[in-house]
Amino acid sequence: MQHKNTLKVAITGANGFVGKNVGKVLAKKGISVIGVVREDKKSSINFGAALTSEDLSENYLASRLQGCSAFLHFIGKGKQTVDSDYQKVNVGLTKNAINLCKKAKIKKIIYISGLGVSKTTTFGYFISKFQAEQEIINSGLDYTIFRASYIIGKDDSLSHILFKQIKQGAITVPGSGRYRLQPIFIGDVAKVIFQSLTQQKFSNKIIDLVGPKIITFNDYVRDFIQGKKIPIKNIDLEDAYRTALHNPKTDFGIDDLNILVGDYIGNHKKLKSMSGIEFKTHKAVLEAGSLS
Ligand SMILES: NC(=O)c1ccc[n+]([C@@H]2O[C@H](COP(=O)([O-])OP(=O)(O)OC[C@H]3O[C@@H](n4cnc5c(N)ncnc54)[C@H](OP(=O)(O)O)[C@@H]3O)[C@@H](O)[C@H]2O)c1
Repeated sequence: MQHKNTLKVAITGANGFVGKNVGKVLAKKGISVIGVVREDKKSSINFGAALTSEDLSENYLASRLQGCSAFLHFIGKGKQTVDSDYQKVNVGLTKNAINLCKKAKIKKIIYISGLGVSKTTTFGYFISKFQAEQEIINSGLDYTIFRASYIIGKDDSLSHILFKQIKQGAITVPGSGRYRLQPIFIGDVAKVIFQSLTQQKFSNKIIDLVGPKIITFNDYVRDFIQGKKIPIKNIDLEDAYRTALHNPKTDFGIDDLNILVGDYIGNHKKLKSMSGIEFKTHKAVLEAGSLS
């Protein structure tokens, strides 16, 4: 087996929230990390080498990625547009990622899907994630697929929305707010991904990537404001969906709402027993000031 310090991995979506945080942690552990990014973002990689690619199909990539033991595929889209839809990005670029792994002789792929994705999934984002999972499972590559709840850390998308709403004077909770989530800290996500690079027990598995505490959105928001006097307003769910349908810049898009109200929770015990990690609760993350 290769010694950890000689490991080399590639990360797509390397400028995204997960990609940049995981990249930094792996680089600190002595792993040689190559970020694959779109042309205009190359300069923002600060944890290793960068390769540019528009869609992972460029011929030059395979030779430059030879010797990588894993391909961390973190490209993903949670809101679609006419130019950039789920099929093109979540499914199409996963197919390209698999082809690239085969050409570069990379044996392992790590992918982040969504908590709640299943073959009975009925909405666009989850369908694309399910199809991406299937492409990976049927690829013949060794895989670890993580189905993630809300990953929280500095600049995560949920905190970004909540901070923005606080600045605007009030947090708005779509519907009852009684639906649940299971936030997981990005630092813990990076630790799990590090383990999955080398440990056989993560091979060919789909694993829930969920934090230690199941919490309603109402309670999460209350914890988030940490006792500050910030108004919290519940808005009608129909109004929230109508706004999402007509305004592409709304905080919660159609599929953000689907995920929120979907009440998706997962199996933290299994993740904990596989990894042996003491996962941080969202409260500990908030108290440490790690989201601001
Ligand atoms: N964060 C979470 O809570 C969470 C939960 C469940 C699943 N996930 C999944 O985890 C993965 C990473 O999430 P994230 O939070 O890091 O998302 P993110 O911050 O939005 O990053 C997504 C990355 O994908 C890249 N990307 C998007 N469209 C692309 C395209 N057409 N061509 C090339 N690259 C493209 C972006 O590149 P640019 O930098 O060039 O824009 C960005 O680096 C995604 O697959 C997401 O679905 C995340």
